Amino acid sequence: VNHLLGIKYLNKEDIKLIFETADHFKEVINRPIKKVPSLRDITIANLFFENSTRTKLSFELAEKRLSADVINFSSGQSSVKKGETLIDTVNNILSMKVDMVVMRHPNPGAGVFLSKHVKASIVNAGDGAHEHPTQALLDSYSIRERLGEVKGKKVVIVGDILHSRVALSNIFALQLQGAEVMVCGPKTLIPKYIGKLGVKVETNLRNALHWCDVANMLRVQNERMDISYFPSTREYTQQFGVNKTLLDSLNKEITIMHPGPINRGVEITSDVADSKQAIILDQVQNGVAIRMAVIYLLASKIK
Ligand code: CP
Repeated sequence: VNHLLGIKYLNKEDIKLIFETADHFKEVINRPIKKVPSLRDITIANLFFENSTRTKLSFELAEKRLSADVINFSSGQSSVKKGETLIDTVNNILSMKVDMVVMRHPNPGAGVFLSKHVKASIVNAGDGAHEHPTQALLDSYSIRERLGEVKGKKVVIVGDILHSRVALSNIFALQLQGAEVMVCGPKTLIPKYIGKLGVKVETNLRNALHWCDVANMLRVQNERMDISYFPSTREYTQQFGVNKTLLDSLNKEITIMHPGPINRGVEITSDVADSKQAIILDQVQNGVAIRMAVIYLLASKIK
């Protein structure tokens, strides 16, 4: 396969190879000279049709540390605003001899669609509420780093599951590696199809936290929902926000994750987000090594 379109297209061995490759690159980027010449002859276009801080910067850094040539595109400043189609935009960019496209797009399936129409490796950097495969890979990699392995761990994903590409990719990745997965959130933000994915469902946060080893706290994605999904932010925080008092009452230390961006004081308080229990910035740091691994492995099939 010349693309990374979603975790659902990977198997256990693919993830193992990505992690072993990321282990190598993590060691590289901790050296004084952080760069390797591996992809000197590869050109990568980062196409962001939706806002991003972490993913965009992380991909760009990963590409530069592999010595690839990098071009960046944000739809807000482009001719997309003049009505150009996705395929036309991408084919114009590819005619400048681009080998790989990293794309974030608001439409689910945009990466799959593109992969059928253009001759380049496509990496999905988040497609609507569908998948965010590199986020799930860096999340599992961070669990492996903190807890030794992913297999056998109990992971609860808390919050707005319905609108979350992070949740779906994490469910696929965690299950492939033998973890048990639970989702926890308001009924209105848990999709009807969740039962078919073999995950536990819990609407009481305290019960979920008692059960788990790891809690991955998601942001309520106000931009993807209308007011009918949940009555108020205050009510959400009361029922589904983590705070230090709640965690201290569990009598065990669980690992707290968050893909970012954080709404401090909504799904997580600052004293939890900034505590040693939280591995939020480790996730961001590991994202560069994971993305180096993904790009390196895909590029080795282009060469
Ligand atoms: N986690 C994540 O995808 O963050 P960004 O939207 O800032 O890229």
